[in-house]
Amino acid sequence: MTALAPPRFLTLEGIDGAGKSTHIAGIGAYLREQGEQVVLSREPGGSELAEALRALLLQREMSMLTELLIVFAARRDHLDRVILPALARGAWVVCDRFTDATWAYQGGGRGVPSTQIAWLEQEVQGALKPLRTFWFDLEPREAAQRRAATRRRESDAVKPAARPSPPADDAAAGPEDRFEAEDLDFFFRVRRAYAHRAAQYPDTFLRLDACLPQATIAGQIQSDLERLLKMAREQC
Ligand code: TYD
Repeated sequence: MTALAPPRFLTLEGIDGAGKSTHIAGIGAYLREQGEQVVLSREPGGSELAEALRALLLQREMSMLTELLIVFAARRDHLDRVILPALARGAWVVCDRFTDATWAYQGGGRGVPSTQIAWLEQEVQGALKPLRTFWFDLEPREAAQRRAATRRRESDAVKPAARPSPPADDAAAGPEDRFEAEDLDFFFRVRRAYAHRAAQYPDTFLRLDACLPQATIAGQIQSDLERLLKMAREQC
């Protein structure tokens, strides 16, 4: 890879319940079929220390500044131990959420000033930005219904007369965390912040309508990956 080649770094974003986690394995499988090395990861988390911080972040009450600092502390460790080494050896890194989630949840949702986020972003990751952000866009009421339906299916599944297990998706596994427990207004603000980021970075964001069938979304992602892969190979 030349020094100027864009990083092979892909992220998936969207409000909780939009279905993004369903697609991460498909992205990894497609890239591997094409002979590429792939690392799948997630935030908050992705390294041992960052996973420990994730547990605190999702469950413990804290101020919005503490929350912001923990998010970026986890990110720095994840970058040092997983993301940067993988990119340096030429692997693709596909990450379920990254800094756009901070702009959306801490910035849009909580109201953290953008100057604070921008300063930490610069300190923690420098110029590193995703090559593509797949944004799973969904109306917050629909997302809330999906999260509730998944929780119902999961609680039924533990009973003896359980129904068939639910399709794998990211719509609220287990009990609600601190973010999932937020009200609808919070998710409207988060979605608006994602829309703002998408408008600011039209060359990076690909908006996917999360109401469409999974297979349609997977097809849209694959067409985009074909283009990205071609571009990345031309720049080697
Ligand atoms: P996620 O792993 O997508 O949730 P799930 O386990 O339900 O699939 O993310 C957990 C939560 O973390 C999610 O509600 C959004 C939040 N989050 C932030 O608030 N800021 C961030 O920077 C990141 C990466 C996530």
